[in-house]
Amino acid sequence: PEKAPDILSPEFARDPYLAYREMRESAPLFWHEATQSWIISRYEDVERVFKDKGAQFTTDNYDWQIEPVHGKTILQLSGREHAVRRALVAPAFRGSDLQEKFLPVIERNSRELIDTFRHTGTVDLVEEYATRFPVNVIADMLGLDKADHARFHGWYTTVIAFLGNLAGDPEVAAAGERTRVEFAEYMIPIIRERRDHLGDDLLSTLCAAEVDGVRMSDEDIKAFCSLLLAAGGETTDKAIASIFANLLLHPEQLEAVRQDRTLIARAFAETLRYTPPVHMIMRQSATDVELSGGTVPAGATVTCLIGAANRDERRYRDPDRFDIFRDDLTTTTAFSAAADHLAFALGRHFCVGALLAKAEVEIGVGQLLDAMPDVRLADGFDPVEQGVFTRGPQSLPVRFTPAAV
Ligand code: HEM
Repeated sequence: PEKAPDILSPEFARDPYLAYREMRESAPLFWHEATQSWIISRYEDVERVFKDKGAQFTTDNYDWQIEPVHGKTILQLSGREHAVRRALVAPAFRGSDLQEKFLPVIERNSRELIDTFRHTGTVDLVEEYATRFPVNVIADMLGLDKADHARFHGWYTTVIAFLGNLAGDPEVAAAGERTRVEFAEYMIPIIRERRDHLGDDLLSTLCAAEVDGVRMSDEDIKAFCSLLLAAGGETTDKAIASIFANLLLHPEQLEAVRQDRTLIARAFAETLRYTPPVHMIMRQSATDVELSGGTVPAGATVTCLIGAANRDERRYRDPDRFDIFRDDLTTTTAFSAAADHLAFALGRHFCVGALLAKAEVEIGVGQLLDAMPDVRLADGFDPVEQGVFTRGPQSLPVRFTPAAV
């Protein structure tokens, strides 16, 4: 482009997709002053950075991006230390732990929320469902007191404000750091107590996990739980809001999904491609790296635009069309996110909660469709996306025939 797009401008926030196209076409690599980073937007380049063959990138950027609010998490680790941590936490999010312990938690928490509005005939799905469901699921998976869900939700709000604070508002930053302190004061005593009384919940699994003689400290577990607020909460929150917005805006595809619920898997994959919850991920270059459009020098920050890469015309036919039946998605009903899009990243830090997120979306969307057989957008309402770092519909008021009392 004549002038490099400013990813912090209000025009960009309103509609980044046109700017993404221009970047892919004529500025696949450019220096962005305000974020002090090199921006990349083509699928091939973002994929390459995430896969990181030859260890050319680090996640040292997370030291300033997330450490003030979460402490040291798995995202800041590398090499063997990361591999061990990954082996400690990953089993809790797949296989029998997911199927037997956590699917019932997901079902229960979704149903409890839906019960608050199924008799009303109208609801804002963002406000009353999407922003609550994944956070409640995490708190419940951890085995925290139900009475604490509201506090958990409050911390969630300040954490995501901190992470989205690209413009550097000092009050938002201070609130994030206060949350780190409060969260630790709340969590550490619970972790200590749980070590003595292990149960069937996620916190107990994390306390007991051991790999090659390594276990997680109280601080490690606390930081992981804090990360889950953002990594497992905000992302799934936005995914649920977006899948619903996309389907409501494409009523024939909504109808197909309603008739055949196995299509939720495809609708989820296409939603993650078309409107990914996380639009930007940063990395730090460890060496000079050759990418489309030039060389990134060693020691630089690289901003990977997932939202742009997922619409790369070099990778997808007619990329700006939402189509759950597109034949360049490999997902049928099985899970193959890694091949379909970059929304969960790739490589070492590939989302550890991808299967959990898929289960939440499948159960949540299924239950919502059952409770609202004729769901439609509120009259005259046009969903508006907000956010540039993470992104999703601002609100989603819908109408439906209320369930009989
Ligand atoms: C990592 C996206 C759901 C936990 C990631 C990364 C992305 C991502 C892009 C890579 C970050 C990077 O490479 O810098 C998403 C999306 C989700 C989702 C789009 C929902 C649709 C979840 C859930 C959990 C979770 C439900 C909770 C359990 C994590 C963790 C990591 C991660 C712990 C760090 C993994 C590592 O460093 O090895 N996620 N996520 N995510 N995600 Fe998710």
